[in-house]
Amino acid sequence: MQAMMTVTVLLLTVLWIGLTMGQIPNPNQYRFTLTIGGRAQERYAIDEPAGKMSRLWYSNDADEEFGGNQDIYVRDDARTYFFDFMSKPPGCIANRGGPYNRMNYWSNLIQSFGGEQKIYDELIFDPDCDGTCLTWKTEFNETYHHFRYVNRLYVKKAEQKPIKMVMRKYDLDTEKLLSTTVTRFVNWITGKVPDYEYDYPMNLTTCYKP
Ligand SMILES: *[C@@H]1O[C@H](CO)[C@@H](O)[C@H](O)[C@H]1NC(C)=O
Ligand SMILES: *[C@@H]1O[C@H](CO)[C@@H](O)[C@H](O)[C@H]1NC(C)=O
Repeated sequence: MQAMMTVTVLLLTVLWIGLTMGQIPNPNQYRFTLTIGGRAQERYAIDEPAGKMSRLWYSNDADEEFGGNQDIYVRDDARTYFFDFMSKPPGCIANRGGPYNRMNYWSNLIQSFGGEQKIYDELIFDPDCDGTCLTWKTEFNETYHHFRYVNRLYVKKAEQKPIKMVMRKYDLDTEKLLSTTVTRFVNWITGKVPDYEYDYPMNLTTCYKP
């Protein structure tokens, strides 16, 4: 009887560990810089318990004067501030409420891969993970252009840390690889987000308040 209990507990533990290991990390406090093809595109700093979120995106033109835009959501203010550095002069709008859905990038991405409980599809040995990556895959066919897209998410197994996403585009008929796009989650850090991530880049008194 005792032995059976032990075996059951052991089995449950193994199952539980298996499930835990298979989950996509889903922290409610995180920050990272998103790069596509080696170029910084966006920065996210999400702190759900603190009720603060920041999404910053860089402009694609080379003009330094038009650097980019930033959204900062502050729950205590019940506002989502939009700072626009691509207009001249730079301006800001203090919109009521928020945040809008796109600000929580990671949580949306997990949904697109089947949710945080989704068990990984494959273990892949990859130098970007300093060893083993857990990977999740989605694919879809774009029949109009005859493309097939395969998107794979890589999470470093040892630290449960998001590393990159690799999107491959194939010719649907010949299966020839047409292009590969690598999105990286650089400087991924979890835990309480320092306040400087939410420093307003402009004096709020100048903001338009709808
Ligand atoms: C896409 O097309 C390929 C080749 O015809 C097929 O093997 C695959 O199952 C399709 N995938 C989806 C998600 O429909
Ligand atoms: C913002 O502008 C207002 C009005 O010009 C000024 O009174 C205030 O000191 C400024 N705040 C900061 C932090 O610069």
